[in-house]
Amino acid sequence: MTSACAPGKIILLGEHAVVYGRPALAVPVRQVQVCAVVEAAGSGPPGGVLLVSPDLALESWLSDLPASHPLAAISQATLAALEPGPFAPIRVTITSTIPVASGLGSSAAVSVAIARALIQHFGGELGHSRVSELAFEVERIHHGTASGIDNTVVAFDRPVFFRRGETPEPLAIGGSFHFLIGDTGVAAPTAEAVGRVRQRWQADPPALEAAFDQIAALVLDARQALLIGDVDRLGADLRRNHALLQELDVSSAGLDGLVQAADAAGALGAKMSGGGMGGNMIALVSVDRREPVADALRQAGAVSVLQTEVEP
Ligand code: PMV
Repeated sequence: MTSACAPGKIILLGEHAVVYGRPALAVPVRQVQVCAVVEAAGSGPPGGVLLVSPDLALESWLSDLPASHPLAAISQATLAALEPGPFAPIRVTITSTIPVASGLGSSAAVSVAIARALIQHFGGELGHSRVSELAFEVERIHHGTASGIDNTVVAFDRPVFFRRGETPEPLAIGGSFHFLIGDTGVAAPTAEAVGRVRQRWQADPPALEAAFDQIAALVLDARQALLIGDVDRLGADLRRNHALLQELDVSSAGLDGLVQAADAAGALGAKMSGGGMGGNMIALVSVDRREPVADALRQAGAVSVLQTEVEP
């Protein structure tokens, strides 16, 4: 039996603009994860792969699923890369604590966990970059313009400075940054939010390009703030990035409510994170404001509040 897990993730700054070639910052969130276990299936056809996901109420042979099914697609892509030759039937069981469609990278984590578990099972030698590429193939099926940031940060499992089509740069962190992650409880497919930005961009390219440039400037400033451990500066960058995302019309009343509640309770800065229109927001807090801000988020309607640290 082999098993592998992959973390969730949050985008600190730069979502949406990253689809248009601007840089973005993302960090893994190890408090939530997806795990995949590969074991002998007992019975079944030679070369058969039984995919089991209690969360999705799924138990199906890979050959019976459509090629676009995310679990089938990553299994198929990984097997094609590994070329294991004939093998006895296997069962792949996937469990997750990452909420879906919430901006925490659940689909990328599912792909990375399955790919890694299969690689271990068959004794393959595919590294982080290859795993990230395999997961990217799947991200693109469901969200054709995916930038690749989710699969990158989840596969590398470390903070990254990411720009589409470039080798991800590991982010140097010069201090401790404490984040709260507040969930609006509203599931929001990323493709819809990305489509909304696309429509606005098609209607007025110069205005949107200018907004993306402003976001890119904040990303560069935030990278510096992380490097030197300047929490106040990072907080201000988060705040400004949220305002620009509001202008792009991808925030929501629920997200804005949580961001305001965090600010009012003394967060250093807060913003929506990921596709938006629901899903999660993040708040940067000092240690002494962590509990009050978490309470304020719950009172303002957050269905869950996670804590995570970004550290050297
Ligand atoms: O998967 P999410 O919801 O964290 O959003 C991904 C970030 C976007 O920039 C909105 C889309 C992308 O592909 O980069």
